[in-house]
Amino acid sequence: MGGGECDVVRLWGGIKLPLVGFGTAAFPYNGERIEQAVGTALEIGYRHFDTAKIYGSETAVGRGLRKALSEGVVNRKEIFVTSKLWGSDHHDPVGGLRQTLKNLEMEYLDMFLVHWPAKLKARACYPVPAEEDFECLDMESTWAGMERCVELGLCKCIGLSNFSCTKIDLLLQHASIPPAVNQVEMHPLWRQNKLRDFCGERKIHVSAYSPLGGPGNSWGSMAVVEHPIIKSVALKHNATPAQVALRWGLDKGASVITKSFNPERMKENLGALELQLDEDDFAEIERLGEYKLMRGEFLVNDTTSPYKSIQELWDGEI
Ligand SMILES: NC(=O)c1ccc[n+]([C@@H]2O[C@H](COP(=O)([O-])OP(=O)(O)OC[C@H]3O[C@@H](n4cnc5c(N)ncnc54)[C@H](OP(=O)(O)O)[C@@H]3O)[C@@H](O)[C@H]2O)c1
Repeated sequence: MGGGECDVVRLWGGIKLPLVGFGTAAFPYNGERIEQAVGTALEIGYRHFDTAKIYGSETAVGRGLRKALSEGVVNRKEIFVTSKLWGSDHHDPVGGLRQTLKNLEMEYLDMFLVHWPAKLKARACYPVPAEEDFECLDMESTWAGMERCVELGLCKCIGLSNFSCTKIDLLLQHASIPPAVNQVEMHPLWRQNKLRDFCGERKIHVSAYSPLGGPGNSWGSMAVVEHPIIKSVALKHNATPAQVALRWGLDKGASVITKSFNPERMKENLGALELQLDEDDFAEIERLGEYKLMRGEFLVNDTTSPYKSIQELWDGEI
């Protein structure tokens, strides 16, 4: 790892995205732990850092990265920093990004994503919106603001997160700058076959969050790393279940964003880059039942949200 051509994917505009990203969403929040983990991750070889205003981790991620930059461990161009626009900043993506850059104490982001297809009142900057916080989604104006962020040099590229094929299709009808990435849940038990085909045809890169199924997370599950088929594939290759899950995602053409603040597991996860799976492994995984973990219930209500059901949020793609 470390930016070699085989460890990166080229996005829209030729921008290079490191294939294994480092997630920083961890609850309960512990800034010192995040800052330290970022430093360790850099030493081990991670170059892509994924944060978001709503994780509360931007400040700690910024501290960890700046320390490494000042010590000459890496230079700014060698790292890739992603953050996300929360629903309460849809009114003003440029203002939202300026705040993110202030939190990170950085001049620019490599990638800025619309976190969810949901617009909230400006005051609603917390993870679970109240019923009265929802506004009507106007992606044409939100995306124009995202494009402005690129024009102002505040980020190198822009993209989406948690968008269905239907919503991307609508966005492409008015976008001047197409989304470079759609960051979505993807792992062996939620494979995103339809979305990957759809995005592939439109040159939108799919980035996989919760690629291990988020074991131990409030929204996650042990089902992927403890699945008997994943375990048996791991045993066959003298690898670990986590490496199998990550390698599967990489071989499906996605980049993966995995989170571990444990140095041994950080190394283990990067080891997925060395693993080779075979046709039988893919066939076995393809037969597994699917279940989406991050369902987005917090954006659904039958009064003020534009989404009256989970099916509406995902346009039936769940
Ligand atoms: N765009 C979105 O809406 C969205 C949603 C969710 C997540 N994300 C991003 O994606 C990142 C990753 O998501 P995630 O945390 O759900 O991913 P994940 O990598 O699937 O799960 C992380 C969990 O797995 C554990 N773990 C890590 N490596 C392991 C291994 N080798 N064996 C067993 N357990 C292991 C970690 O614990 P330890 O730390 O103790 O190792 C942590 O509890 C987030 O941090 C965030 O940056 C984005």
